[in-house]
Amino acid sequence: MDIFQVISDRRSIRKYKDTPVEREKIEQVLNAARLAPSWKNMQCWRFLVLTDPERRASLLQAFPDDNPGKKAIAMAPCVIVVCADPAESGVENGIEYYIGDTAIAFEHLCLAAHGVGLGTCWMGWFDEATIKAAVGIPEPIRIIGITPLGYPDQEPKPRPRKELSQIAFFESWEAPC
Ligand SMILES: Cc1cc2nc3c(=O)[nH]c(=O)nc-3n(C[C@H](O)[C@H](O)[C@H](O)COP(=O)(O)O)c2cc1C
Repeated sequence: MDIFQVISDRRSIRKYKDTPVEREKIEQVLNAARLAPSWKNMQCWRFLVLTDPERRASLLQAFPDDNPGKKAIAMAPCVIVVCADPAESGVENGIEYYIGDTAIAFEHLCLAAHGVGLGTCWMGWFDEATIKAAVGIPEPIRIIGITPLGYPDQEPKPRPRKELSQIAFFESWEAPC
C-alpha cells in the first residue's frame, strides 16, 4: 500500500474480531517499530507483547471505565505495551527524548499494522504503576502507551483534523499555509 494511503486510512480501532494475529505479522509490525529514528540512535524503546488471555485481562484494572478504548483491550487477541528506558535516550532544551523516540516507533508500529490489515489504538489513559505491577515491568522503564492489535471489526469514519493554515506557516510565523 502507498505510504500516503496508509497514513490517511489509519484509524484508532476499538472493536476487534477474535481471530488470532499471526506471529509473523506481530514480528512484522515490531520490525517496523525497530526501524524508527531515535536520539543518537540509542533505540530506547521496548515492547511487551501479550497474547495470553489472563495476562491481557490483568491490564484492565489499570484503565478507567470511561476510557473509550478499554473494551478494545479486553477484546483484541493481542496487546502491545510500548515502553521506554529513559537511560537510553537524551535530554535537550528540557525535552526528554525517550518520549519522542518511542512515540515515533509506536506510530511506525501503528502504520505498519494498518498496512498488513491490522488495527491499533494508541492508548495513554491508564495507571502506569498498576500496569507495571500486573505484568512485571521493571521500575526504571516507563510505559509510553498501550495498543490492542488485531483484525478490525469496525470501519470508523475519519476524525476531524485542523486545516493546514492553522498549523503550518511559510517562511514567517505570520504567514499561514
Ligand atoms: C498520546 C495518545 C493517547 C491516546 N489515548 C487514548 C486512550 O487512552 N483511549 C482511547 O480510546 N484513545 C486514545 N487515543 C486515540 C485518540 O483518541 C485518536 O488518535 C484521535 O481521536 C484521532 O482518531 P484517529 O486515531 O482514528 O485518527 C490516544 C491517542 C494518542 C496519540
